Amino acid sequence: MARVFITRELPFPALDRLKAEHDVDEWEEKTPPPADAFLARAQQADALLTTVTDKVDGAFLDAAPSVKAVANLAVGTDNIDLDAASERGIPVGNTPGVLTDSTADIAFALLLAVARRLSEGEREVREGRWAPWHPSHMLGGDLADTTLGIIGWGRIGQAMARRGEGFGMRILHSSRSSGIPLDELLEQSDHVSLHTPLTPETRHLMGAPQFARMKKTAYFINTSRGGTVDQEALRAALVDGQIAGAGLDVTEPEPLTADDPLLSAPNLLVVPHVGSATVRTRSRMADLAVDNLLAALAGDEMPNRVA
Ligand code: GLV
Ligand code: GLV
Repeated sequence: MARVFITRELPFPALDRLKAEHDVDEWEEKTPPPADAFLARAQQADALLTTVTDKVDGAFLDAAPSVKAVANLAVGTDNIDLDAASERGIPVGNTPGVLTDSTADIAFALLLAVARRLSEGEREVREGRWAPWHPSHMLGGDLADTTLGIIGWGRIGQAMARRGEGFGMRILHSSRSSGIPLDELLEQSDHVSLHTPLTPETRHLMGAPQFARMKKTAYFINTSRGGTVDQEALRAALVDGQIAGAGLDVTEPEPLTADDPLLSAPNLLVVPHVGSATVRTRSRMADLAVDNLLAALAGDEMPNRVA
């Protein structure tokens, strides 16, 4: 029996499978463990179940030498230094596939919501500012017969493309290995959605020069990681009317505080990193994370190993 530290409450059936075989130490609060508490608990664990805000790097792994495996409850693993884990022979797993549709749903929901000004409209109603019907009231952007540019062509980017096709959009994509160059995509697309993992190469992939290439009528959607976007450049692009609006599920930092300068930008809709937040998806993610842990602790290969 090994000891596994899980950094969040995990109210899903998968946890029972883990508890049946191992000693599970659960972080008891809804807020993440502070770095020192995370390390202290990791030092008593053989394996970790982490998630997007838990930073695991080489120094952390050296300070917690008992840790032999890490399962991240996410498809993205930018919170973990994969090279450092590999160098130390520590397998790292993720939860791909099961969250593809729910994340693409949120990306498309953001696109629809910003293009049709849904949250602005809802505020108008609730704040008693709903004026009688007017032909030019709250005009937004169209999706049908426009071009959707998708940056990153993994499972989620392709699922976003299918949604766009269903709405009568033409699809362009740009990725490391296929599609058209990013600059061309930005110039030709009526709307742009970002679906790349965060890596040193994709950090601030979208900055001032990139927003400047986009059409002034274009909406920008990000459901990947906040770090893929230079947020100050995005704020400026919105303020200057360089793009028509943006819908974000991810920011830097997370959580964003209510006084963050980004939130003063117009035509911006931000939701709190809920891409994979459906009952079914989160339960399946917990299953995959537990499968990874059970395999690693049995000395087998993790079914979804990234490092
Ligand atoms: C969540 O953001 C994930 O990477 O699964
Ligand atoms: C994630 O599952 C991706 O490949 O886009």
